[in-house]
Amino acid sequence: MATAHSSFYLTTPIYYVNDAPHIGHAYTTVAADVMTRWHRQRQEDVWFLTGTDEHGQKVMRTAEANGVTPQQWADRLVKEAWLPVLDTLDARNDDFIRTTDTRHETAVQRFISQLHDQGDIYEGSYEGPYCVGCEEYKLPADLIDGTGEYEGEKLCSIHSRPVEMLAEQNYFFNLSTYGERLLALYEEHPEFVQPASARNEVIGFVKQGLQDLSISRSTFDWGVPVPWDTKHVMYVWFDALLNYVTALGWGDDNAEAQARFEKFWPASVHLVGKDILRFHAVIWPAMLMAAKLPLPTTVFAHGWLLVGGEKMSKTKLTGIAPSTIIDHFGSDAFRYYFMRAIQFGQDGSFSWEDMSAQYNAALANGWGNLASRLAAMVNKYYDGQLPQAGELTDADRHVEQVALQAVTDAEAAIDAISPTRAIDATWTLVDALNMYITEQEPWKVAKDPEQSGQGGRLATILVTAAEGLRALAVLLNPVMPQASAALWDSLGAQAHLGALDAQPVADAGRFGQLPVGTVITKGAVLFPRLEEPEAK
Ligand code: ME8
Ligand code: MG
Repeated sequence: MATAHSSFYLTTPIYYVNDAPHIGHAYTTVAADVMTRWHRQRQEDVWFLTGTDEHGQKVMRTAEANGVTPQQWADRLVKEAWLPVLDTLDARNDDFIRTTDTRHETAVQRFISQLHDQGDIYEGSYEGPYCVGCEEYKLPADLIDGTGEYEGEKLCSIHSRPVEMLAEQNYFFNLSTYGERLLALYEEHPEFVQPASARNEVIGFVKQGLQDLSISRSTFDWGVPVPWDTKHVMYVWFDALLNYVTALGWGDDNAEAQARFEKFWPASVHLVGKDILRFHAVIWPAMLMAAKLPLPTTVFAHGWLLVGGEKMSKTKLTGIAPSTIIDHFGSDAFRYYFMRAIQFGQDGSFSWEDMSAQYNAALANGWGNLASRLAAMVNKYYDGQLPQAGELTDADRHVEQVALQAVTDAEAAIDAISPTRAIDATWTLVDALNMYITEQEPWKVAKDPEQSGQGGRLATILVTAAEGLRALAVLLNPVMPQASAALWDSLGAQAHLGALDAQPVADAGRFGQLPVGTVITKGAVLFPRLEEPEAK
């Protein structure tokens, strides 16, 4: 029987296809991929969903500006930009949902009909400032005063662009009646909104009182038709949030889809940027409550990649394409850098200089060099075969202790949704191994024939280092899958232990897994040293 924790469902936001992805979107996707690969490495049943948000005015206007239909525009962007970037990032998603998929459109119509039939939806009118960048009616507190070219206008505080006054006859969802239940949810389940700063913001927002939510639009037609009144299309956010259940199979009559929904819903983690926290932590749980569906365990809002102190954004044209960085450093280094250099949950910014320095220090000189040295020494001193270790000293035992502790700490960090701390914990082992090699000086021990045979001191040092590297291949596989696979190969581990993906994380720290005679080869250099940019 499966245990309660054996299935893990994680989602990214579905991204607007108004433009191609930048490193802000890549950041969320990479974090999601690291988290899900980690849970797969635990040998859990994992489902990783990502996709695209294609309806609404923002996408419609971009298509118009480019002289094509919104569907043509979305098809082109998905094919040429949003699907390829997953390969560029080395993301291993299980599904990709598009809000124009029939499976999605059919199910959202079912959902809204159910709420309508229950009496949770009514007709009314609304007038207020709307930000097309956010696809959201704004409250006075969300607006800032424009300056310069926007002097005298009110701007969205996220997009720094003027809002538009809209007045419409719409359908409304009675969100205002969910305030108490939402506050009780945040109180009883502090893990529902993370990190704590996000939780505080959401509680403060809901305590001010909620307004009912306009969930249809009738002045344009790029959206899912409201089933009982097809002059209206559904509000893009109401449509988009539902992707998390429609992609699994909610509202689908197909038995396989239904089984997948039963298996993976509710979601373990909705990973989002803090720009869209309220939609996920307020509106979404209320929608699920209305439909009497179980609630997700956690909405985690991470920070922003900043440019000049502001959120990097498609609307502001400040995005850097992921390939600009990955063509130079590779996808492993990209994944490592963004997960480690910015404390997950906080804002941060990218600098080419900093990334170069970190790459050379941690990857080329730290982990990569350690792997090459071990392979070179086993080849030089033992013809490429792992020797029989001798008696262990405190120094050898210490390395295993560090490995065991690294596993414990990294696992706890992943449970706390902190890939940054998981990598920090893992790096204690990289550092301990480098220190160990420096102190043990195997190249000196090798000069003494008494100590350099089978069962001698030299053999013990090399076996200890090989076991440490084996543990690192497992722990770093979710973060840097390419280098980890290359290391697994170089360690000859497959022949004795099986596939790298099949190694349970929990057992990675235990030494003594690679048998005597394991063939260790000098593989390709994991991280070639790169020229650092010249100081200005
Ligand atoms: O909001 N820093 O889509 P979107 C970090 N379609 N992360 C960033 C970022 C930055 N500068 N810029 C974007 C939407 N992101 C809706 C979502 S979900 C039901 C619908 C990431 O294309 C981050 O995850 O504007 C952010 O929340 C998301 O992209 C917004 O993508
Ligand atoms: Mg956005």
